[in-house]
Amino acid sequence: MNPEIRFSNGSTYEQMMGVWSRKVGDAFLTWLAPPSGERWIDVGCGSGAFTELLIERVKPLSITGVDPSAPQVDYAKKRPGAAAARFEVGDAMALPLDTGSVDHATSGLVVFFMPDPPRGIAEMARVTRAGGTVSSYVWDYLGGGFPYHPLNAAIAEIGHPPIPPPHPEAAELEALTTLWRDAGLMEVETRVITVERDYPDFDSYWQMATTAPVLAPILAALSPDMLAGVRRAVAARTGGGTGPLRFSARAHAVKGRR
Ligand SMILES: C[S@@+](CC[C@H](N)C(=O)[O-])C[C@H]1O[C@@H](n2cnc3c(N)ncnc32)[C@H](O)[C@@H]1O
Repeated sequence: MNPEIRFSNGSTYEQMMGVWSRKVGDAFLTWLAPPSGERWIDVGCGSGAFTELLIERVKPLSITGVDPSAPQVDYAKKRPGAAAARFEVGDAMALPLDTGSVDHATSGLVVFFMPDPPRGIAEMARVTRAGGTVSSYVWDYLGGGFPYHPLNAAIAEIGHPPIPPPHPEAAELEALTTLWRDAGLMEVETRVITVERDYPDFDSYWQMATTAPVLAPILAALSPDMLAGVRRAVAARTGGGTGPLRFSARAHAVKGRR
Protein backbone atom coordinates (compact mmCIF):
# COMPACT_ATOMS: atom_id res chain seq x y z
CA MET A 1 0.00 0.00 0.00
CA ASN A 2 1.15 3.55 -0.60
CA PRO A 3 3.07 4.40 2.57
CA GLU A 4 1.36 7.79 2.70
CA ILE A 5 -2.14 6.33 3.03
CA ARG A 6 -2.57 4.88 6.47
CA PHE A 7 -5.76 3.87 8.21
CA SER A 8 -4.89 4.02 11.86
CA ASN A 9 -7.64 5.44 14.05
CA GLY A 10 -10.54 2.98 14.17
CA SER A 11 -13.13 5.29 15.72
CA THR A 12 -12.42 8.21 13.35
CA TYR A 13 -12.50 5.82 10.42
CA GLU A 14 -15.82 4.49 11.68
CA GLN A 15 -17.63 7.82 11.18
CA MET A 16 -15.72 8.86 8.10
CA MET A 17 -15.95 5.58 6.18
CA GLY A 18 -17.52 2.80 8.32
CA VAL A 19 -21.05 4.16 7.88
CA TRP A 20 -20.57 4.33 4.11
CA SER A 21 -18.97 0.90 4.15
CA ARG A 22 -21.99 -0.68 5.82
CA LYS A 23 -24.38 0.94 3.36
CA VAL A 24 -22.51 -0.38 0.32
CA GLY A 25 -21.87 -3.69 2.09
CA ASP A 26 -25.57 -4.14 2.69
CA ALA A 27 -26.43 -3.72 -1.00
CA PHE A 28 -23.46 -5.91 -1.93
CA LEU A 29 -24.58 -8.79 0.32
CA THR A 30 -28.09 -8.60 -1.09
CA TRP A 31 -26.55 -9.05 -4.56
CA LEU A 32 -24.17 -11.81 -3.43
CA ALA A 33 -26.97 -13.65 -1.59
CA PRO A 34 -24.66 -16.17 0.10
CA PRO A 35 -25.91 -19.11 2.18
CA SER A 36 -25.43 -18.99 5.95
CA GLY A 37 -23.27 -21.41 7.97
CA GLU A 38 -20.10 -21.26 5.81
CA ARG A 39 -16.45 -20.23 6.24
CA TRP A 40 -15.31 -16.71 5.25
CA ILE A 41 -12.28 -14.48 5.02
CA ASP A 42 -12.71 -10.67 4.96
CA VAL A 43 -9.54 -9.29 3.37
CA GLY A 44 -8.65 -5.74 4.47
CA CYS A 45 -11.28 -5.90 7.21
CA GLY A 46 -10.07 -2.60 8.74
CA SER A 47 -12.17 -1.65 11.77
CA GLY A 48 -14.48 -4.60 11.11
CA ALA A 49 -17.48 -2.59 9.84
CA PHE A 50 -18.15 -5.00 6.97
CA THR A 51 -17.15 -8.08 9.01
CA GLU A 52 -19.80 -7.17 11.57
CA LEU A 53 -22.41 -6.70 8.87
CA LEU A 54 -21.50 -10.04 7.33
CA ILE A 55 -21.92 -11.80 10.68
CA GLU A 56 -25.27 -10.11 11.26
CA ARG A 57 -26.65 -10.81 7.79
CA VAL A 58 -25.03 -14.09 6.72
CA LYS A 59 -24.38 -15.88 10.01
CA PRO A 60 -21.17 -17.58 8.90
CA LEU A 61 -19.81 -20.74 10.48
CA SER A 62 -16.47 -18.95 10.84
CA ILE A 63 -14.93 -15.69 9.65
CA THR A 64 -11.36 -14.41 9.67
CA GLY A 65 -10.69 -10.70 9.20
CA VAL A 66 -7.21 -9.76 7.98
CA ASP A 67 -5.73 -6.25 7.79
CA PRO A 68 -2.16 -4.85 7.92
CA SER A 69 -3.17 -2.00 10.28
CA ALA A 70 -2.75 -3.15 13.90
CA PRO A 71 -4.84 -0.24 15.37
CA GLN A 72 -7.70 -1.06 12.99
CA VAL A 73 -7.52 -4.76 13.90
CA ASP A 74 -7.52 -3.85 17.62
CA TYR A 75 -10.65 -1.76 17.08
CA ALA A 76 -12.29 -4.63 15.16
CA LYS A 77 -11.51 -7.07 17.97
CA LYS A 78 -13.45 -4.89 20.42
CA ARG A 79 -16.48 -4.53 18.18
CA PRO A 80 -19.33 -6.29 20.04
CA GLY A 81 -21.12 -7.36 16.84
CA ALA A 82 -17.96 -9.00 15.50
CA ALA A 83 -17.07 -11.08 18.57
CA ALA A 84 -17.62 -14.25 16.52
CA ALA A 85 -14.80 -13.29 14.13
CA ARG A 86 -11.11 -14.04 14.41
CA PHE A 87 -9.05 -10.95 13.49
CA GLU A 88 -5.41 -11.04 12.46
CA VAL A 89 -2.83 -8.51 11.34
CA GLY A 90 -1.89 -9.68 7.86
CA ASP A 91 -1.51 -8.76 4.22
CA ALA A 92 -3.66 -9.48 1.17
CA MET A 93 -0.43 -10.33 -0.66
CA ALA A 94 0.12 -13.41 1.54
CA LEU A 95 -3.06 -14.43 3.32
CA PRO A 96 -2.49 -16.35 6.57
CA LEU A 97 -4.86 -19.19 5.60
CA ASP A 98 -4.43 -22.61 4.01
CA THR A 99 -5.30 -23.27 0.38
CA GLY A 100 -9.00 -24.05 -0.12
CA SER A 101 -9.79 -23.44 3.54
CA VAL A 102 -12.76 -21.05 3.16
CA ASP A 103 -16.00 -21.15 1.21
CA HIS A 104 -15.97 -17.40 0.51
CA ALA A 105 -13.22 -14.79 0.23
CA THR A 106 -14.48 -11.23 0.20
CA SER A 107 -13.08 -7.75 0.52
CA GLY A 108 -14.74 -4.35 0.99
CA LEU A 109 -13.18 -1.13 -0.35
CA VAL A 110 -9.68 -2.63 -0.55
CA VAL A 111 -8.72 -3.84 -4.06
CA PHE A 112 -7.28 -0.47 -5.10
CA PHE A 113 -5.12 -0.38 -1.97
CA MET A 114 -3.52 -3.73 -2.72
CA PRO A 115 0.11 -3.18 -3.77
CA ASP A 116 -0.35 -5.79 -6.51
CA PRO A 117 -4.07 -6.40 -7.20
CA PRO A 118 -3.57 -9.50 -9.44
CA ARG A 119 -1.56 -11.13 -6.65
CA GLY A 120 -4.16 -10.15 -4.03
CA ILE A 121 -7.03 -11.63 -6.03
CA ALA A 122 -4.96 -14.76 -6.75
CA GLU A 123 -4.46 -15.08 -2.98
CA MET A 124 -8.21 -14.75 -2.37
CA ALA A 125 -8.79 -17.45 -5.01
CA ARG A 126 -6.11 -19.68 -3.48
CA VAL A 127 -7.68 -19.76 0.00
CA THR A 128 -11.16 -20.43 -1.43
CA ARG A 129 -12.33 -24.01 -2.05
CA ALA A 130 -13.41 -25.10 -5.53
CA GLY A 131 -17.02 -23.97 -6.00
CA GLY A 132 -16.72 -21.18 -3.43
CA THR A 133 -16.96 -17.46 -4.20
CA VAL A 134 -14.46 -14.63 -4.43
CA SER A 135 -16.07 -11.20 -4.27
CA SER A 136 -15.39 -7.55 -3.64
CA TYR A 137 -16.64 -4.00 -3.86
CA VAL A 138 -14.62 -0.85 -4.19
CA TRP A 139 -15.34 2.85 -4.75
CA ASP A 140 -15.55 4.01 -8.36
CA TYR A 141 -12.60 6.26 -7.62
CA LEU A 142 -11.79 7.45 -11.16
CA GLY A 143 -15.48 8.00 -11.92
CA GLY A 144 -15.99 10.27 -8.88
CA GLY A 145 -17.88 7.69 -6.80
CA PHE A 146 -15.70 8.10 -3.69
CA PRO A 147 -17.80 9.74 -0.93
CA TYR A 148 -15.26 12.54 -0.46
CA HIS A 149 -14.65 13.14 -4.16
CA PRO A 150 -15.96 16.75 -3.92
CA LEU A 151 -13.23 17.54 -1.41
CA ASN A 152 -10.57 15.74 -3.50
CA ALA A 153 -11.64 17.76 -6.53
CA ALA A 154 -11.68 21.10 -4.66
CA ILE A 155 -8.18 20.49 -3.31
CA ALA A 156 -6.90 19.44 -6.74
CA GLU A 157 -8.23 22.72 -8.16
CA ILE A 158 -5.95 24.73 -5.89
CA GLY A 159 -2.91 22.63 -6.85
CA HIS A 160 -2.87 20.03 -4.06
CA PRO A 161 -4.18 16.85 -5.67
CA PRO A 162 -4.63 14.25 -2.93
CA ILE A 163 -2.62 11.06 -3.24
CA PRO A 164 -4.86 8.47 -4.92
CA PRO A 165 -4.86 4.87 -3.76
CA PRO A 166 -2.01 2.97 -5.45
CA HIS A 167 -4.28 1.32 -8.03
CA PRO A 168 -7.44 3.38 -8.68
CA GLU A 169 -7.65 1.84 -12.17
CA ALA A 170 -8.28 -1.57 -10.56
CA ALA A 171 -11.73 -0.33 -9.49
CA GLU A 172 -12.97 0.06 -13.06
CA LEU A 173 -15.63 -2.53 -13.95
CA GLU A 174 -13.59 -3.92 -16.85
CA ALA A 175 -10.44 -4.11 -14.73
CA LEU A 176 -12.30 -6.01 -12.01
CA THR A 177 -13.63 -8.47 -14.57
CA THR A 178 -10.12 -9.01 -15.93
CA LEU A 179 -8.63 -9.41 -12.45
CA TRP A 180 -11.24 -12.02 -11.55
CA ARG A 181 -10.95 -13.95 -14.84
CA ASP A 182 -7.15 -13.87 -14.74
CA ALA A 183 -7.28 -15.42 -11.26
CA GLY A 184 -9.08 -18.37 -12.87
CA LEU A 185 -12.50 -17.45 -11.47
CA MET A 186 -15.64 -18.40 -13.39
CA GLU A 187 -19.14 -16.93 -13.84
CA VAL A 188 -17.70 -13.46 -13.22
CA GLU A 189 -20.31 -10.72 -12.78
CA THR A 190 -20.05 -7.04 -11.89
CA ARG A 191 -22.52 -4.50 -10.62
CA VAL A 192 -22.67 -0.76 -9.90
CA ILE A 193 -23.89 0.03 -6.39
CA THR A 194 -25.10 3.54 -5.54
CA VAL A 195 -25.80 4.46 -1.92
CA GLU A 196 -27.00 7.60 -0.16
CA ARG A 197 -26.11 9.03 3.21
CA ASP A 198 -27.98 11.78 5.06
CA TYR A 199 -26.02 14.39 7.00
CA PRO A 200 -27.78 16.81 9.38
CA ASP A 201 -26.07 19.67 7.54
CA PHE A 202 -23.06 20.47 5.36
CA ASP A 203 -20.91 21.04 8.43
CA SER A 204 -21.25 17.34 9.43
CA TYR A 205 -20.13 16.24 5.95
CA TRP A 206 -17.22 18.68 6.14
CA GLN A 207 -16.17 17.49 9.61
CA MET A 208 -16.09 13.86 8.47
CA ALA A 209 -14.50 14.53 5.09
CA THR A 210 -11.66 16.45 6.69
CA THR A 211 -10.64 13.47 8.86
CA ALA A 212 -9.92 11.28 5.80
CA PRO A 213 -6.34 10.00 6.20
CA VAL A 214 -5.15 11.33 2.85
CA LEU A 215 -6.87 14.70 3.17
CA ALA A 216 -6.27 15.78 6.76
CA PRO A 217 -2.55 16.58 6.34
CA ILE A 218 -3.18 18.55 3.14
CA LEU A 219 -5.91 20.62 4.78
CA ALA A 220 -3.80 21.22 7.87
CA ALA A 221 -1.13 22.83 5.67
CA LEU A 222 -3.54 25.34 4.02
CA SER A 223 -3.85 28.95 5.14
CA PRO A 224 -7.20 29.86 6.81
CA ASP A 225 -8.26 31.75 3.66
CA MET A 226 -7.46 28.84 1.36
CA LEU A 227 -9.23 26.44 3.70
CA ALA A 228 -12.33 28.66 3.69
CA GLY A 229 -12.17 28.71 -0.12
CA VAL A 230 -11.97 24.90 -0.28
CA ARG A 231 -14.92 24.66 2.09
CA ARG A 232 -17.00 26.97 -0.13
CA ALA A 233 -16.04 24.94 -3.22
CA VAL A 234 -17.04 21.66 -1.54
CA ALA A 235 -20.35 23.19 -0.38
CA ALA A 236 -21.04 24.25 -3.96
CA ARG A 237 -20.20 20.76 -5.31
CA THR A 238 -22.36 18.94 -2.76
CA GLY A 239 -25.22 21.45 -2.80
CA GLY A 240 -24.67 21.77 0.95
CA GLY A 241 -25.98 24.66 3.04
CA THR A 242 -27.33 24.95 6.56
CA GLY A 243 -30.09 22.36 6.08
CA PRO A 244 -29.93 18.55 5.79
CA LEU A 245 -27.62 17.19 3.10
CA ARG A 246 -28.17 13.95 1.18
CA PHE A 247 -25.08 12.77 -0.65
CA SER A 248 -24.62 9.72 -2.86
CA ALA A 249 -21.55 7.61 -3.56
CA ARG A 250 -20.91 4.82 -6.06
CA ALA A 251 -19.04 1.54 -5.80
CA HIS A 252 -18.22 -1.25 -8.24
CA ALA A 253 -18.82 -4.83 -7.12
CA VAL A 254 -17.56 -8.09 -8.58
CA LYS A 255 -18.11 -11.76 -7.85
CA GLY A 256 -16.88 -15.03 -9.34
CA ARG A 257 -16.84 -18.73 -8.62
CA ARG A 258 -13.65 -20.62 -7.84
C1 LIG B 1 -11.25 1.78 3.07
S1 LIG B 1 -10.60 0.65 4.24
C2 LIG B 1 -11.85 -0.65 4.21
C3 LIG B 1 -11.99 -1.38 5.52
C4 LIG B 1 -13.16 -2.35 5.62
N1 LIG B 1 -13.06 -3.41 4.66
C5 LIG B 1 -14.47 -1.63 5.46
O1 LIG B 1 -15.18 -1.93 4.51
O2 LIG B 1 -14.80 -0.78 6.29
C6 LIG B 1 -9.28 -0.07 3.37
C7 LIG B 1 -8.52 -1.09 4.18
O3 LIG B 1 -7.57 -1.75 3.34
C8 LIG B 1 -6.51 -2.11 4.15
N2 LIG B 1 -5.35 -2.49 3.34
C9 LIG B 1 -4.44 -1.70 2.78
N3 LIG B 1 -3.46 -2.41 2.19
C10 LIG B 1 -3.77 -3.71 2.39
C11 LIG B 1 -3.14 -4.94 2.06
N4 LIG B 1 -1.99 -4.98 1.40
N5 LIG B 1 -3.73 -6.07 2.47
C12 LIG B 1 -4.91 -6.06 3.13
N6 LIG B 1 -5.54 -4.92 3.48
C13 LIG B 1 -4.99 -3.76 3.12
C14 LIG B 1 -6.30 -0.87 5.02
O4 LIG B 1 -5.51 -1.12 6.16
C15 LIG B 1 -7.73 -0.50 5.35
O5 LIG B 1 -8.17 -1.06 6.56
